[in-house]
Amino acid sequence: MTASFQATEASRLRSLPKAEVHLHLEGCFDADTIARWARAEGVALPRAQEDLFKFSGLADFLGFLDLACGLAATPERLAQLSYGLAQRLTDNGTGYADVIVNPTHWHAWHGRLSAMLDAIDGGLRAAEQDGLTRVGLCVSLLRTQTADESIELVELLHAMRHPRVVALSVDGNEATAGRTGPRFAEAFRRAGQHGLRRTVHAGESSGPEGVWDAVNLLGADRIDHGVRAIEDPALVRMLAERQIPLGICPTSNLVLGVYPSIEQHPLERLRQAGVRVSVNTDDPALLDASLVGEYALCRQAFGWTDEVTRAVAQTSIDASFACADVKRELLDALQRW
Ligand code: ADE
Ligand code: ZN
Repeated sequence: MTASFQATEASRLRSLPKAEVHLHLEGCFDADTIARWARAEGVALPRAQEDLFKFSGLADFLGFLDLACGLAATPERLAQLSYGLAQRLTDNGTGYADVIVNPTHWHAWHGRLSAMLDAIDGGLRAAEQDGLTRVGLCVSLLRTQTADESIELVELLHAMRHPRVVALSVDGNEATAGRTGPRFAEAFRRAGQHGLRRTVHAGESSGPEGVWDAVNLLGADRIDHGVRAIEDPALVRMLAERQIPLGICPTSNLVLGVYPSIEQHPLERLRQAGVRVSVNTDDPALLDASLVGEYALCRQAFGWTDEVTRAVAQTSIDASFACADVKRELLDALQRW
């Protein structure tokens, strides 16, 4: 592939109207920022700056999030990160994004969720005023939290009714936490009752059983990852029949070792089986992924035509928790692409 073809392809994909529905604020630190803030706080980094983002797998990666997020101890730093995230979305031509934020990683803010959300909201509002991408927040539980903690978070979110928050989420490591669907069922039931949308990490560090639980016990509107559903044909049929969308992150799955190569990644088989799929970056800065790059990777690996590309972008918009006006605007623009 020539450099000029790549540049033209990137520019076309940047212009593709689309949403991103699976990325984490925790994954939006660049190495320079981490190094600068660590020096200012006197915090030692676990390895040299050039190797900082070399992860041995999901557990190592999640541990690193605690270190990075722990450095964002002031409202100014949180706002700066949030603004930077919106800039990154705009650079990729993303019209709207649902962004996951997991309060457990942000040590300086424990017990101060309202102030933390206000600081993030401040950065996002400044970004919107500058014409950058609109963002809704999905506040996330960690798989290792308790049932009581999960209910406490949902009731707190309900009491706050923060206008930036659109959903309850759960992420973290199901391989170490074990089966936790039953533990979080009550929190997700209440979230639904309180008008929050529900999105669930499953089928990345869990197998198909985690995806079944996400649907049957947690009432997921959307699954984050969900790729290991491919191991259970009955589950694939159910996801297709019920049109439950998967927010898939190919590069993340490769970097964190879920699949050894894009050729072995099940995204295309899921799509061809009728499952609604979108492509996403998960933790763009830490995993060196861009949304334009994810679309380009799939078009190259799976031979996606413009028609398929448009259908996947449509799923990203349909599956997002954006308000009806934003969805309509993006869908209209997509028809003209
Ligand atoms: N938090 C941030 N990225 C994650 C991932 N890929 N899986 C689970 N939890 C996460
Ligand atoms: Zn994720």
